[in-house]
Amino acid sequence: MGKSKTIGVVGAGTMGRGIVQLFAQAGYVVRCLDTQPGAAAKAVDHVDGMLAKLVEKGRIQRDELERIRSRITACASPVEMADCDVVIEAIIEDLGAKRELFRTLEGIVGNEAILASNTSSLTVSDIAAGCARPDRVAGLHFFNPVPLMKVAEVIAAVRTSPATIETLREITESAGHRAVVTADQPGFLINHAGRGLYTEGLRIVEEQIATPADVDDVLREALGFRMGPFELLDLTGLDVSSKVMASIYEQFQQEPRFRPSSLVAPRVAAGLFGRKTGEGWYRYEAGKQAKPPARELPPLRAGLTVWIDPAADGEAELNTLARNAGARLLTNASDAELAIVQPWGVDATHAARSLGLDASRCVAVDPITPFGLRRTLMLTAITAPQTRDAAHALLASDGVTVTVIGDSAGFIAQRVIATIVNIAANIAQRGIGSVPDLEDAVRLGLGYPRGPLAWGDHLGSDRILAILQAQLRLTGDPRYRPSPWLVRRVALGLPLTTPEAAR
Ligand SMILES: NC(=O)c1ccc[n+]([C@@H]2O[C@H](COP(=O)([O-])OP(=O)(O)OC[C@H]3O[C@@H](n4cnc5c(N)ncnc54)[C@H](O)[C@@H]3O)[C@@H](O)[C@H]2O)c1
Repeated sequence: MGKSKTIGVVGAGTMGRGIVQLFAQAGYVVRCLDTQPGAAAKAVDHVDGMLAKLVEKGRIQRDELERIRSRITACASPVEMADCDVVIEAIIEDLGAKRELFRTLEGIVGNEAILASNTSSLTVSDIAAGCARPDRVAGLHFFNPVPLMKVAEVIAAVRTSPATIETLREITESAGHRAVVTADQPGFLINHAGRGLYTEGLRIVEEQIATPADVDDVLREALGFRMGPFELLDLTGLDVSSKVMASIYEQFQQEPRFRPSSLVAPRVAAGLFGRKTGEGWYRYEAGKQAKPPARELPPLRAGLTVWIDPAADGEAELNTLARNAGARLLTNASDAELAIVQPWGVDATHAARSLGLDASRCVAVDPITPFGLRRTLMLTAITAPQTRDAAHALLASDGVTVTVIGDSAGFIAQRVIATIVNIAANIAQRGIGSVPDLEDAVRLGLGYPRGPLAWGDHLGSDRILAILQAQLRLTGDPRYRPSPWLVRRVALGLPLTTPEAAR
C-alpha cells in the first residue's frame, strides 16, 4: 500500500530519523540525506532498530518491516532529492545553513515540490525569503520523539500558498499525526501556549509563595499535569530553556506575559542545569530525583474551634472533615481559633479583610482542587504559626496531603491555569491558530490533561478573568492583563470552546 508521494528528509539527526521512520511507516518512499559522511546510513540503521522493536512487541510483522525498510534510501548528494514531492529539512538550527540548503534544493527539485523546515525557533519567513519561490516554503514542526508525539505544526510563512499548507496537512494526517496550522509567530502554537506554565511557576517561587517542589506537586497531583514546570525545566536543561524563554520574550517585543524570571540567570551561571548536571531545581542521585523533605505534619488538636465560610465552594466537605477530626464548628467567626475561607482569585489577607475576620486566625483552602486530591492551604500575611499548624493537621486528618503556601491572589493552581488560559485566549485573539487546532496542539504537544480553553470552561471563564484581574490589581504587572478575547466572551457568557466563541 504505497503512498504516491516521495519525501526527502535532509538532516539525519534526532529529528530527521524520526521523520524518516514516520513517513516510511506510513507508506511513503523516503530519501534521507546528511552532510556528515555515514550519518544517513546510520539513521537508516536506527530506524531499522526501532522497527525491529515494533516487531518484537508484535506491533508490526517482520515482512512489514522489510517493506518499510525497502522504501528508505540513504542518499549521498542533494541531487538525489530531484524526484521528491516534499523535502523536510531537519539540519542544525542556523538560518544561514538552512537558507543555503533551501537555495540548493530549489535548483534540484521539480516545480511543484514543497520545501518544509522543522525549525523550532527561527522565523520560517526568514528561511523562505532566501528562496526564489517562497510560496512553496513552509514550516513542518515535529516533536521529539517524532513517531510517538502525534502532532505537527504546519507553519504558514507570510508568502506560503494555501496549497502548500494543504499538502503538508494531508501528508502529516495520512501518517497518523494531528496537523495543526499556525501562523509564523514566535513559538508557533505549542511553544507559545506552553509559556504560561513556566513563567507563572517561576513567578510564584520568585514571590516566595511556594517552593519549586510545592508548585510541581500541586500541578501534578491536584490538576493532573504529567510534570510540573520545575521538573520539566530540569528535564530539558535550564541552559537550553533559559534561551528559549529569552528568545520568545524578545521575539514578542518584550511582551510582559513572557518576561523571563531573574531567578534563572544566576542558576545557569552556577551550572544548575538540571538532570544533565546532577542538580537543578532538584538534586539527582544516580539519575533519580531526590525529593526534598516534606513539611512535618503537626499533631491534630482535638476540640479545636473552627469557623468555615458558609459561602465556601467546599463548605459541606470541610464541615464533615472538621467534624470527623473532632473539631467544634462555630457559627460566629470571632469566637473561633481557626477561620477557613475558599476564595477564587483573591489572596487570603484580602479574603479575611472582606469578611471582617482576624487575619492572624484565618487560612484559605484552594477550591480549584477536587476534595480528595492534594489540598493547598494558603496563609494570610500574618497567620499565626499555631493557626497554620492547626489548619494543616485538620486538613490532612483524612490522609490527604496538604501543601502550605504563602499569600497569593489565586493560590498556585488558580494562577497557573489562569495564565495558561489567558495566553491561549490571546493566541485566539491574534488568529495564530484556530481554537480546535490550539486545543489539540496543547494536549498532544504539551501533554496537558485538557486544552487550555477547555480548562477555562471547566473552571469558569468568569473565575479565570477574576483571578487575572485580582493579580493585575494587586501587582500592577501588565503580564496579568486579560486578553480582550477572554473579556468579551465572559461578557457574553459564551463558553470559550464553542464555535461562536471561536469566531
Ligand atoms: N531535538 C528536538 O527536540 C527538536 C524538536 C523540534 C525541532 N527541532 C529542530 O529540528 C532541527 C534538527 O534538530 P535535531 O535535534 O535533529 O539536530 P541534530 O543535531 O540531532 O541533527 C542535525 C543533523 O543535521 C546534519 N546537518 C547539518 N547541516 C546539514 C546540511 N547543511 N545538510 C544536511 N545535513 C546537515 C548534521 O550532520 C546532523 O546529523 C533543528 O532545526 C531543531 O531546531 C529539534
